[in-house]
Amino acid sequence: MKDCTVHIKSFGCQMNKLDTALVASALRDAGFRLTDDVKEADAVLINTCSVRQHAEDRVFSHLGHLKHLKQHRPHLVVGVIGCMAQRLGSTLLEHEAVNIVCGPAQIPQIAEMLRQAIARSDEKRLAVIEKIRQETPRDGGDLERFESAYGVTDEQIPHQAFVRVMRGCNRFCTYCVVPYVRGPEACRPPEAILEQVKKLADAGVKQVTLLGQTVNSYRYDDGGRTWCLADLLEMTARVPGIEWVRFVTSYPADEFYEQILQVMAGSAKICHYLHMPAQSGSDRVLAAMNRHYTAAHYLELIDRARAVVPDIAVAGDFIVGFPGETDEDFAATVDLAKKARYKNSFIFKYSPRPGTTADHRLADSVAPEVKQWRNVELLAVQEQVSMELSRSFVGRRAKVLVEGPSKKAHVNPAAVQGGQGTCDGSENESCRLGIESAGAGLQSTTAGASTQEDSVQLVGRTSTDSIVVFHGRAALAGCFAEVRIVKATPLTLFGELSRR
Ligand code: SAH
Ligand code: SF4
Ligand code: F3S
Repeated sequence: MKDCTVHIKSFGCQMNKLDTALVASALRDAGFRLTDDVKEADAVLINTCSVRQHAEDRVFSHLGHLKHLKQHRPHLVVGVIGCMAQRLGSTLLEHEAVNIVCGPAQIPQIAEMLRQAIARSDEKRLAVIEKIRQETPRDGGDLERFESAYGVTDEQIPHQAFVRVMRGCNRFCTYCVVPYVRGPEACRPPEAILEQVKKLADAGVKQVTLLGQTVNSYRYDDGGRTWCLADLLEMTARVPGIEWVRFVTSYPADEFYEQILQVMAGSAKICHYLHMPAQSGSDRVLAAMNRHYTAAHYLELIDRARAVVPDIAVAGDFIVGFPGETDEDFAATVDLAKKARYKNSFIFKYSPRPGTTADHRLADSVAPEVKQWRNVELLAVQEQVSMELSRSFVGRRAKVLVEGPSKKAHVNPAAVQGGQGTCDGSENESCRLGIESAGAGLQSTTAGASTQEDSVQLVGRTSTDSIVVFHGRAALAGCFAEVRIVKATPLTLFGELSRR
């Protein structure tokens, strides 16, 4: 598709960001040119998230802008891909702006769909749509071939990459749309994962993050041998060139837990970081959520992690205002948050999702202002814990992997925002690529406070996932650096470069 330019906007979790990167890579291979500027695009793709209503509202608002744009540029092709495409299917084609709808399992076909839509540019509206499948074939089928063909790196965070180890989810937490839009759990074969990691390492990748909705449940049975996440972590850490290995997101479960902690404790390359959402601290609410643990058991899992890996940093997620959540239930959540001592937590107000069990069976009974109040309250509790933990870094040295220049100058530490709060599908701060993301991106910004001419404000992360801001050359992006921590806010550490 010579001279055809595509702009991609991405919403949602790391899974979606990885899909966006795969699609971008496939489109480049197919001869499309990617652009950051929607004004020069022949086609716009929006990779969408359905996890909360707000995430879908943002997509509709974006589609509203595109509808206006199409009044002047009727040939602009607009495609909706990802989880919302799967949830809403062809009804999305009723929106005036939309030409293409493509579910997450059909992304291998996106280049061809775009080609067809662009070729028919004489028509005002096109209905190029694939039948959306509910099930992923056991062997991963087209998706597995697609994924293996594009061992992409996250181009805007140099030397870092995400590797999916499993697709879908079988847990069916009653509030969650993910199992419906991403299908049943399917674990990728270890050899396919290893091949991909080797390819990435050959391309200069130093940090790999293994991805799965319940990544710690990874299990692959092969000729009498069972592979678990601990095996994948060890295998990945052994690949020459790979320095750090991470994994997200973990479900609080006993199976394989000990093995994972042991490999973490035994290898400096496996980052001491665990993202393990509790969702609630009330056993009654946890049962209604279909989460298969109690608050006490959850805290035992955290205690065990700290016993085996003493400096481990733990992050969590909470939903406030789940149907029927009482003040007492919420108090139990606050209690758990205090005891768990998370580095940070993502706090969400319950959002009913059509088709889920909670939406079917339970009224969205907690008033919006109560949800809001609980959200603010829990955030305040978390902020206090985060501040205490952050403060303990001051005066210490930390090794960071530099992500790049910070998005905005962190002049006033009090104003610094991180990955904590009431975000809406853009679960964390990372995003990048020649692609616009609904989350924050890292852009080159020289820091006002800099004294050296070539010095910019950089952002890096420790192995325990603390964000560190410091001054240094932009060329340090993708390198490890040693930084002395001089100041702390709940979510950001400020440091001085001590060695390159
Ligand atoms: N697989 C991950 C989470 C995926 S969704 C896990 O199980 O931990 C990311 C987060 O969104 C969840 O942890 C949950 O806190 C939140 N979430 C999911 N569905 C939601 C809903 N209907 N309303 C509000 N928050 C929700
Ligand atoms: Fe959703 Fe639960 Fe699966 Fe996480 S484990 S993706 S919250 S159903
Ligand atoms: Fe889909 Fe991820 Fe959102 S799996 S629904 S993009 S949180």
